[in-house]
Amino acid sequence: MKQIIENVFFCGLPDKNRKLFDQLVPLPQGTTYNAYVVKGSEKVALIDTMYEKLRGEFVDMIAASGLKIDYIISNHAEPDHSGSIGALLEKFPQAVVYASPKCAENLKNMLHIPEAKIKVVSEGEELPLGGKTLRFMITPWVHWPDTMFTYLVEDKLLFSCDFFGAHYTKNDLWADCTSGLAEAAKRYYAEIMMPFRNFCVKYLKMVKALEPKMILPSHGPVYDHPEFILNLYEDWTSERVAKKILLPYVSMYDNTREMVDYLENILQAEGVTVVKADLIEADEGEIAMELIDAAGVVFGTSMVLTGPHPKTVYAAYLINILRPKIKFYTVVGSFGWGGNLTAPVDAMFTLTKPEKLDGVIVKGKPRVEDFKALDNLANTLLQKLL
Ligand code: FEO
Repeated sequence: MKQIIENVFFCGLPDKNRKLFDQLVPLPQGTTYNAYVVKGSEKVALIDTMYEKLRGEFVDMIAASGLKIDYIISNHAEPDHSGSIGALLEKFPQAVVYASPKCAENLKNMLHIPEAKIKVVSEGEELPLGGKTLRFMITPWVHWPDTMFTYLVEDKLLFSCDFFGAHYTKNDLWADCTSGLAEAAKRYYAEIMMPFRNFCVKYLKMVKALEPKMILPSHGPVYDHPEFILNLYEDWTSERVAKKILLPYVSMYDNTREMVDYLENILQAEGVTVVKADLIEADEGEIAMELIDAAGVVFGTSMVLTGPHPKTVYAAYLINILRPKIKFYTVVGSFGWGGNLTAPVDAMFTLTKPEKLDGVIVKGKPRVEDFKALDNLANTLLQKLL
């Protein structure tokens, strides 16, 4: 355990070998699962626990501290933070688990934590430990509907759970405030928080008003200068979009690639940032990050049998559930004998509702008139970007 301030300790563990988060987003450097101990003069609380796969090491670390845990504060029931509650209750059978109403339900259903071991807390409720007081702030949807923050009143420390997290393992405890950390926090935000951007805006305002001295999330480093991560979130959650188009594409015989490259060249010449992503090798995390401020998406796709390449439909599905700020989308591509390249993409946009622009669909290799159609599409996109 590492001391943060007197009687407050970090007891997280890195998981540098983890390759994917949610079996979806690549983790270039793994992640960390953070937990914290707050020691009052009378009672000791553990805030969050550990991914079940690391529970042995975690429980040994807590036991080696010699502390007796009276309270386990479960800010969120997702198993990367709650997965060791059962093992801790075996070690500290007198401990009581504090959780929001929805978190209590999740702990019972997902981890079979006995109801008798859980104390359900409400907004603003406080837990005195003796000279240190924990206040619970119910903050649904960052990340799940069960999430809450815990605030250490006397020391102004905010334990924000997933909010402000980062998949960052390069240093042990303190935020180094480098571009590398910003990138890791951005990757985290894009997948985990962007779908709940409106809630992020609300809680960001709330946290700023609180003026915490430190922000202690459940992934990544501790922010002893919170303005670093607060400013990043201010930018990412804003309404602003860049003069930028994301262009995910799949091309089987280079006809679609030729169209995509042509469009890219025209747009770039007009000062548009075009981010192409070859879907055969794309990193979902990179796509999500680019969506934070992209104004629109142009899908480039070949036909497979009667519809777009399945990876194009997957990309559209992913974009839809991430709920970015994109204002418009369209489809360009080439087919051999027939089918519909656009309808399966359209069908994916059920949550995110960008404007659909007419695309350019070509039979076989693009001809002069097809490039003229791409010129027209580029003009339309430029108008939209204005
Ligand atoms: Fe890190 Fe939503 O759990």
